[in-house]
Amino acid sequence: MPGDTLPLLLLLSLFGTTHGCLQDPSSAYKYTGVVCRLTYPAAAVLNEKTTKVIEAAFQHARYPSMQGEKSAGFFGKVSYGLENLEIYNLSIGRSDFELRPGEGIGLEINNVSAVFSGTIQYGYGSWLMNVGHRLDFEVETQIDLGINPKLYCGNSKVAADTSDCYLNFHKFRLYLEGDKEPNWLKKLFTDFITFTVKLVVKGQICKEINKLADILAEFIQDTAADFLSDGGISVDIGVTTTPLITANYIESYHKGLTTYLNLTSVINASVFHPDHLTENRMLYFWFSDEVFKPLIAAAHHDGRFQLNISSEELKTLFETNLSSIKPEYVEKCLLGSASPELRAWSSSVPTLNTSTVGTSVWAQATGELYCGSRSKPTLSFQTNITVDVTASYADKKLLLHGKPRQISVIRAELPQQNTLINDEAQVEFIREAVEKIGVPKVLSVLEVEITRLMDKQGANLFDIIDPEVLHQEGYIVTRMDFGFPHHLLVDFLKRTLQ
Ligand SMILES: *[C@@H]1O[C@H](CO)[C@@H](O)[C@H](O)[C@H]1NC(C)=O
Ligand SMILES: *[C@@H]1O[C@H](CO)[C@@H](O)[C@H](O)[C@H]1NC(C)=O
Ligand SMILES: *[C@@H]1O[C@H](CO)[C@@H](O)[C@H](O)[C@H]1NC(C)=O
Ligand SMILES: *[C@@H]1O[C@H](CO)[C@@H](O)[C@H](O)[C@H]1NC(C)=O
Ligand SMILES: *[C@@H]1O[C@H](CO)[C@@H](O)[C@H](O)[C@H]1NC(C)=O
Ligand SMILES: *[C@@H]1O[C@H](CO)[C@@H](O)[C@H](O)[C@H]1NC(C)=O
Ligand SMILES: *[C@@H]1O[C@H](CO)[C@@H](O)[C@H](O)[C@H]1NC(C)=O
Ligand SMILES: *[C@@H]1O[C@H](CO)[C@@H](O)[C@H](O)[C@H]1NC(C)=O
Repeated sequence: MPGDTLPLLLLLSLFGTTHGCLQDPSSAYKYTGVVCRLTYPAAAVLNEKTTKVIEAAFQHARYPSMQGEKSAGFFGKVSYGLENLEIYNLSIGRSDFELRPGEGIGLEINNVSAVFSGTIQYGYGSWLMNVGHRLDFEVETQIDLGINPKLYCGNSKVAADTSDCYLNFHKFRLYLEGDKEPNWLKKLFTDFITFTVKLVVKGQICKEINKLADILAEFIQDTAADFLSDGGISVDIGVTTTPLITANYIESYHKGLTTYLNLTSVINASVFHPDHLTENRMLYFWFSDEVFKPLIAAAHHDGRFQLNISSEELKTLFETNLSSIKPEYVEKCLLGSASPELRAWSSSVPTLNTSTVGTSVWAQATGELYCGSRSKPTLSFQTNITVDVTASYADKKLLLHGKPRQISVIRAELPQQNTLINDEAQVEFIREAVEKIGVPKVLSVLEVEITRLMDKQGANLFDIIDPEVLHQEGYIVTRMDFGFPHHLLVDFLKRTLQ
């Protein structure tokens, strides 16, 4: 990149070693760059979808074949096997949940009714394999299901331990087909099937729920990491400590560290405090400035902050009403030359600083205006730019509003004549053009870029409702409500359970 004289030194100073998962949340705060708070109303919206997930767990579970042997007096031994267990006519009544402070989540699913069908094979003595008889059966069941997931810090991610899982059968009606067998045999099978089906169903359903919980947790976190990562720049959103559960919310703490060219940033003095977030919206994200600083430094070093504007667009942009007069060489360039071009790029590592008025972004930019010649610019200039940026979100698009705080021209020259520009009016023209044309153009390019990142597959799993972006001292909070479109969940379950 031309003009990029500052070495990776500044970037290096932002990078170093990383920390693992800490036991105590409050000591982990200072290593935490991103916080996610999901409140009770959000959990209620998600709970409405729990039945879909449970349904998928039942239907997806594979039930293994079982075998047994029983002594039957005069007949000697009866061997039997259970196979082809299938489930149908599944319906789920109601699911309820509570947040148990410091403990976990209590989830109860009542009135799951389902019909299981299967085949029982049996034979006397060890004849099962050879002289087996077959008997089809059906079981009508009504089940209550309880799961008490605990959240923990596993492999740097939020993981759910769903091993506390139980099933209560409050109806279990068995129908055996082919009533030719003697009563004692039926009684034997009833006992066997009752016991075995209960055991198999419990084991498999709980296993499947565990798997689904893992997949969901992993998916959400991978989606979030993908959203923040692009090309050679990646953001580690691994957790710094175990998620916190209170009666009103679940809160998770993430590193938010940028990795670029094998260097990873450090956050060790984050200002996070739980008081920064309230409890009246469904979902909150807290971002430290320390997440964005290395991210924009990496973007700068990766050559992301470059903009080439050619002919037609340049002419349109310069139709903007400026109060200063266009120098003659600019006028001639725009009207006279075949295809004028403006090239602009960040010429030192940009930085930022958030306060209640917005995020103050400082950047040094270099611009070159080419008129005809592609090798030597007609005009070259360097500026210091400080802009207070505020963000809002509407119609699934991020909007950036920039309020120039200070824009100054460091140097301007006419390289073809090898002269510096000292004329105040000409310098003021450059300054005003940067402020009124350059800054809005760059913000609109950034808006498009960020919206592109948000549209990347998976990031639209939720319907975001009335989002707000709040700027505070050293951090940004975004808060929103959301809907969880039914079809997205169904698509997701179909894809993951393939
Ligand atoms: C925080 O990280 C920086 C950069 O690696 C280091 O210089 C500083 O000593 C660290 N501070 C603490 C309190 O660990
Ligand atoms: C399953 O549901 C269908 C349709 O409601 C019904 O006709 C059928 O009898 C049910 N099967 C059992 C075993 O309950
Ligand atoms: C379960 O279903 C039965 C009948 O289908 C109903 O009487 C009962 O109230 C339901 N229980 C719950 C907790 O929904
Ligand atoms: C990063 O490190 C790995 C292994 O240490 C190395 O193979 C790779 O070339 C490095 N990549 C860059 C961009 O430095
Ligand atoms: C801008 O133009 C220069 C010179 O043609 C080129 O090297 C650079 O890649 C271009 N940048 C972008 C973002 O198109
Ligand atoms: C341009 O500026 C002049 C003087 O400041 C003003 O009278 C005129 O209405 C402006 N035109 C536009 C299109 O903003
Ligand atoms: C950030 O803001 C503080 C207080 O307003 C100021 O002292 C500091 O220089 C600013 N830093 C940057 C990089 O803008
Ligand atoms: C540009 O910004 C740098 C860094 O803040 C500062 O050292 C320099 O004096 C500024 N130059 C002008 C002309 O404002």
